[in-house]
Amino acid sequence: MEIKIAAPDVDLAGATLIAGVMTDRVPVPGSGEAMAVVDSAFLDLAKFDAKPGQVLALPHETAAALLLVGVGDEASFESIRSAVGNGIRAVKTSRVVTALNQVPIEAATRAVVEGAVLGGYEYRGYKTNGEGSVVETVELVGGNESEIAEAVVASEVTNLARDWVNTPALDMAPETLAARITAAAGDAGVGYEVWGLARITDEGLGALLGVAAGSDRSPSLVVLEYQPGESKGHLGLVGKGITFDSGGLSIKTAPFMEEMKDDMSGAAAVAAATIGIARLGLPIRVTAVMPLTDNAIGGNATRPGDVLRPISGPTIEVLNTDAEGRLILADGLGVMRRYEPDLVIDVATLTGAARVALGDRIGAVFGSDPEVGARVLAAASRAGEHFWELPLFKEYRKQLDSDIADIKNISGSRYGGAIVAAVFLADYAGDGPWAHLDIAGPALARETAGEQVKGASGFGARTLIEVARAMAESA
Ligand code: BES
Ligand code: MN
Ligand code: ZN
Repeated sequence: MEIKIAAPDVDLAGATLIAGVMTDRVPVPGSGEAMAVVDSAFLDLAKFDAKPGQVLALPHETAAALLLVGVGDEASFESIRSAVGNGIRAVKTSRVVTALNQVPIEAATRAVVEGAVLGGYEYRGYKTNGEGSVVETVELVGGNESEIAEAVVASEVTNLARDWVNTPALDMAPETLAARITAAAGDAGVGYEVWGLARITDEGLGALLGVAAGSDRSPSLVVLEYQPGESKGHLGLVGKGITFDSGGLSIKTAPFMEEMKDDMSGAAAVAAATIGIARLGLPIRVTAVMPLTDNAIGGNATRPGDVLRPISGPTIEVLNTDAEGRLILADGLGVMRRYEPDLVIDVATLTGAARVALGDRIGAVFGSDPEVGARVLAAASRAGEHFWELPLFKEYRKQLDSDIADIKNISGSRYGGAIVAAVFLADYAGDGPWAHLDIAGPALARETAGEQVKGASGFGARTLIEVARAMAESA
């Protein structure tokens, strides 16, 4: 999908014109002209009252169709983005024209671009029949070139992450994911290294090896390095890359295993963000580390009671092989310490408990100090992603005391599982500023609505880009 700028007198022939309507059929500011031609009898007939999610296609004297999209009670970044997302999926022409980018709200252009590019996303890699979206170009009346370009980057890298996560685990082995990530990174001018089994073994990443031991598919560790000409800070990103989480010998039950191809969403978000930051040319150095492995079952699988030695930090007694994310992150964080970034952020589909606490639309953020948490929350709010801060409550660390090793990987209690996991990671994150993002809930969209399309959400990538942007602006 291409996003272009259109002049106010753009020829509408053959195009769909998208206009926004607010509750009580009040035109969204800027859509008045398009609305003026609408006979309210049509709206009565169609029971169109402009609720979020409602769309209505009407005949138009010059355009192929006038598509009204419900915005709800308030014109805001999120309501406009959502309305455009709903609208774009109802379009039946290759050309779309809209002036919704002129709505007098902050970042209206970005809202329209994200609505179109994210809402128009489809994953059709395995569909034999049927056609995808027909939309080829979206023209923004009086749009701004650089605002469009920035929003396109943020949206496209989100869709890149969605593609990786949506791909079935059958076709997304750790080495495949490494190849997909490094190919995309190379295209964006991002440097990379891939550690295979030999290097992982030589470097002593015993926790990653312990998780990988049950699988016939070899683990990988990807390091991405974006080095801008002039750098105003160094951001370290670590992403959980479990290409399929069966639970290992502590096997999951069938309903909990269904969605576990998404367990590399953290790695996908981190890689996508790094590529986005590079494409935007932000003056922030980024180092991203992604440990990638299956969590499978085989004759050599790690057993409950085994002890693993990560590259640095406490030795780990594995009492539940399904708490594997924290194991590979221990090694990922350990590798990251070598690069000495100014701020480390890890992203992971880490705990069902985070999903229980915050549901499917909100990620959990834990900060090593309140200032780090606030930075992530501010970035998320600019990105239009939802996070909520949970406490890194060190008192819970004693629940992880092991009888035979330095730490164990589960507390044995059902309660506060997202916090306990974060406290575990704190032992490996080093002494500098660090944030942990648990995206177990929002990594997948459970329904198609607004800019969300059922399946992988690409959640986190845009927040990380905003973190980098804020680092650049505050330096
Ligand atoms: N990948 C899962 C967490 C998860 C659950 C992600 C639901 C997305 C949706 C993780 O590896 C896991 O299995 N965590 C366990 C930890 C427990 C054994 C301490 C969990 O949350 O049940
Ligand atoms: Mn697990
Ligand atoms: Zn997992």
